[in-house]
Amino acid sequence: MSTVRIAIVGLGRLGRRHAANLQQTHHAELTAACSPVAEERDWAATALPGVALYADYAEVLANADVDAVFLVTPTSLHAEQIITALKAGKHVFCEKPLALNVEDCLAVEAEAARHPQLKVMIGFVRRFDASYRDAAAKLAAGSVGRPYLLRSQTCDRNDESGFFVHFSASSGGIFMDCSIHDIDLARWLLGNPQPKRVWATGTNARHPALAEHQDVDNGVAMCEFEGGQLACFYASRTQAHGHETLTEIFASAGRLSVGANPRANRVEISDTHGVRNECVQDFYQRFADAFVTEAQVFVDTIRDNRPSPVTLADAREATRIGLAITQAFRSGEAVSL
Ligand code: NAI
Repeated sequence: MSTVRIAIVGLGRLGRRHAANLQQTHHAELTAACSPVAEERDWAATALPGVALYADYAEVLANADVDAVFLVTPTSLHAEQIITALKAGKHVFCEKPLALNVEDCLAVEAEAARHPQLKVMIGFVRRFDASYRDAAAKLAAGSVGRPYLLRSQTCDRNDESGFFVHFSASSGGIFMDCSIHDIDLARWLLGNPQPKRVWATGTNARHPALAEHQDVDNGVAMCEFEGGQLACFYASRTQAHGHETLTEIFASAGRLSVGANPRANRVEISDTHGVRNECVQDFYQRFADAFVTEAQVFVDTIRDNRPSPVTLADAREATRIGLAITQAFRSGEAVSL
């Protein structure tokens, strides 16, 4: 296949970014875009000239000029939309997390197994970030010895609109929505250990309405793996200074740290407040390059007929651990996996 013809599905906060990236991706052509929301299609009519617009996902799947769908839709829709895309013979990229329960993950895996010629890739974007890739390579080379503890956080700048309150039911809550990235990192960087037990707690620092959804704006969790490795996760929606994704990997001969200062650039300001730097403001600013790389890897995976670099089994495990953490948080009890 010389050019992969792609339909973007979902034109919200992240879908618009992915659409712009896909227009720059080598050997890809953005041929279609889908949203049930008229204003979003109006945006696409201007921003994505020449791209066929659809209100109905079924019509995208019926389009023979589409080789692959790029799903950037609410998490609660992912599993069903992946399955129908595979049945229609389309390759699939789908944003994280794969699904909000393990049964749906297994149903996707079973459908994918029926279509071995089709690729399915789940968007764990940090696996495509240059700094995380460097850390993974150093760990694989044994540069800091054997990793025994990963401490990782996903902290968003406070958004007064509290959009995530309404979004809570379809996102699965803070651990499934935010910590899922850190959970995937823990599996990847600690060498895919088997999870054994999780604990979690949390607090609402600024958005008490989240309590109605059994959700919090600051969550803390721990995971113990078979063999003794540990992971500590922190997720927040209320930071004052900006977006701060930080991961530390403690190992027998050293420590790797990714993102310890979430600096926006290399400018350092020295003034009456001291010596400081500005911070990245949101996840997109932090991972802009990684999103571009991720789209290119998806297209190359299809063209070169390579295995997907993020497997459905990886995504199912992240969901399984995220659900156990959510259960631990809601019950106040440790949960064994
Ligand atoms: P959003 O709510 O801004 O956008 C969702 C889009 O899906 C909207 O355009 C909506 O009209 C569309 N949609 C809803 N139902 C649909 C249907 N039946 N068919 C087609 N389109 C439909 O949400 P956002 O923030 O863009 O998140 C979307 C996904 O991306 C979520 O799964 C989220 O977890 C993931 N995400 C991933 C991030 C990352 O770091 N990788 C960061 C932010 C979001």
